[in-house]
Amino acid sequence: MIFRILAFLLRRPLLMRAISPAMGLYNPFHPDARIDPYPQYQRLREKAPVYRHPRLGMLVLSRYDDVVSVLRDPRFIANRTRSKAFQRNDPFSDLPPGMQEGIRKSLLMTDAPDHTRLRNLVNKAFTPRVVERLRPRVQEVVDGLLDRAASRSDMELVRDLAYPLPVTVIAELLGVPAEERERFKSWSVGLRVLVDPVASIQGMDGAVRAYEEMSEYFSDVFAARRAEPRDDLVSGLVAAEVDGDRLDETELLALCALILGAGHETTTNLISNGVLALLRNPGERKRLADDPSIIESAVEEILRFDSPVQATDRVASEDCEIHGERVEKGSFVVTLLGAANRDPARFPEPDRLDLTRDDGRHVSFGQGAHFCLGAHLARVEAQIALTSLLARFPEFTGPTEAKAWVGSTVLRGPTELPLRLG
Ligand code: HEM
Repeated sequence: MIFRILAFLLRRPLLMRAISPAMGLYNPFHPDARIDPYPQYQRLREKAPVYRHPRLGMLVLSRYDDVVSVLRDPRFIANRTRSKAFQRNDPFSDLPPGMQEGIRKSLLMTDAPDHTRLRNLVNKAFTPRVVERLRPRVQEVVDGLLDRAASRSDMELVRDLAYPLPVTVIAELLGVPAEERERFKSWSVGLRVLVDPVASIQGMDGAVRAYEEMSEYFSDVFAARRAEPRDDLVSGLVAAEVDGDRLDETELLALCALILGAGHETTTNLISNGVLALLRNPGERKRLADDPSIIESAVEEILRFDSPVQATDRVASEDCEIHGERVEKGSFVVTLLGAANRDPARFPEPDRLDLTRDDGRHVSFGQGAHFCLGAHLARVEAQIALTSLLARFPEFTGPTEAKAWVGSTVLRGPTELPLRLG
């Protein structure tokens, strides 16, 4: 979130590139950081674990213990509108009022007690049972996508499996019928700008259009599900009630937009990062192929090793200190999840992929009150996608370097991964 706000404040990505020489020890905009951010993280952990950025005016945390303690500390809040940067120049002020309200009411922007209330209501509808019920359907979708690839002798992993799988699952979860899938995808692309830190101000037009179209579409769906509930998440959300309290229309829409946005690109990246990690580590790939029962710990290790979400941030709600470094009220604190996951103080030999490490304490899904709502779903999708790919095409080959990476400072994954299926 912080980088998007900064990009807005600085108005253009071009300007971000122009200031890069002055970016000090941490420059998430540098092209090398996109290819391999880990050397930068190591320098930070060793030389400046609480790094006051000279240019961006924020603290950057890279050690595991610090990242976890800030994400669990209620003094560090998610409501970015309370940051000094935001109060100087509200990056959302040009957006339509309804959309601004939606952003402010989003789970990712609220704190207790508002966040607790929203989360309790969502938890009523998005239960582990809802996700478990999806398991056979996820397998069916994966099998269908792999069947299509089998009719050729190659596949482009991102386009043919890692992208369509989560989009299809999220659409079905929200109860969007097959014939609406293309529209749904275009909203998702339009809304991407909201989680894309290097978005230019022009990109917001697409987001506004997507939000308005979604709003129109979903207000009909909410009404229809109220009248005739179905077995889908939207029906659960409109009916969710805690002590007589329910989600209002804006909260419902904000949630659907967040689930759509947060729920698919991240999972796409998990699957693609996983296949790339297996291509780079043939010994580990063989272990998994020989013993698919290790898939649960394998997916946890892939999440740790190359996190699909590399960073999040919080705002200090009061003056405080981190390791003697003063943090003024209203400052941004960036928590580098990708750096915490490679902290040798927490994970022995952190740069080694070990599919049975079985530690489970990575921070790729965040920590504390905002812990990822879709973690279980993402795990199920990745487990099924990876085991099925290995079982179906045991001889598949592919590159050990990605040609290009997703154009984001926060999301991490290759944009394409061509495989020969053997
Ligand atoms: C590999 C896939 C995924 C990764 C790595 C991931 C990562 C994260 C992270 C790091 C956070 C916490 C952000 C923060 O603390 O500021 C988060 C929150 C969230 N995620 Fe995910 N996510 C993934 C998949 C999903 C899926 C599949 C869904 C929905 C179906 C989803 C929905 C959400 C929501 C709604 C939140 C906000 C929770 C809250 O603020 O209470 N995510 N995710």
